[in-house]
Amino acid sequence: MADRPPRKRIVVCASGASGARLTGRFLGHLLRHRGVGEVHFTGSSSFRLVLKREEGRSLESFLDELGGGGRLRVYGEKELDAPVASGSFPVHGTVIIPASTSTVGAIASGAGRDLSHRCAEVALKEGRPLLVVPRETPMSLLFLRNLAALREAGALVAPFIPAYYQGPVTLEEIEDHFLMRLMDHLGLETALSKRWK
Ligand SMILES: Cc1cc2nc3c(=O)[nH]c(=O)nc-3n(C[C@H](O)[C@H](O)[C@H](O)COP(=O)(O)O)c2cc1C
Repeated sequence: MADRPPRKRIVVCASGASGARLTGRFLGHLLRHRGVGEVHFTGSSSFRLVLKREEGRSLESFLDELGGGGRLRVYGEKELDAPVASGSFPVHGTVIIPASTSTVGAIASGAGRDLSHRCAEVALKEGRPLLVVPRETPMSLLFLRNLAALREAGALVAPFIPAYYQGPVTLEEIEDHFLMRLMDHLGLETALSKRWK
């Protein structure tokens, strides 16, 4: 029997930038993907606040709705003794979605204090995939420099920008096209959206 690829362990970190629903949709897609074994999640206190403002819901209800069947592990923003805070805990990829200007700054400067910053730092030091989804416009020079520093250090910087060529009608279609592209970068093939032929 041919060897099957191992199911992936993915770390998802959410900061307090706009777009909390994108985080939920991404987590849902990961948890439904047959190639994913575990999803480790941490959200900042500002993520909690944005979730409340944008979705009118608590982090607890957001996580409950995701379910995850035991495949979703959740950590607090100061839980710096979580397994994912160590490079000796192997993971296949780390995604910061959405990434606020302050989280990007903390990672780029190496002065991170929260678990999400540490997860990003671990990904970079271990040479593992780090995907950063910044959400801010317009971007200040400082933010652009911090994003450039992350790119230089090996991260992939992927702002959420709608693609039009697949003829999206709904917000979900626009989001899924973007999320499909993110999942491609984690080696997780999906048919969430139409691809350019
Ligand atoms: C409703 C709401 C929307 C926000 N949107 C953004 C945003 O799109 N981008 C951003 O960088 N910060 C945004 N912020 C500000 C961040 O939440 C704030 O800078 C916070 O300190 C980020 O902390 P964190 O990086 O630890 O999550 C928003 C705040 C609120 C309350």
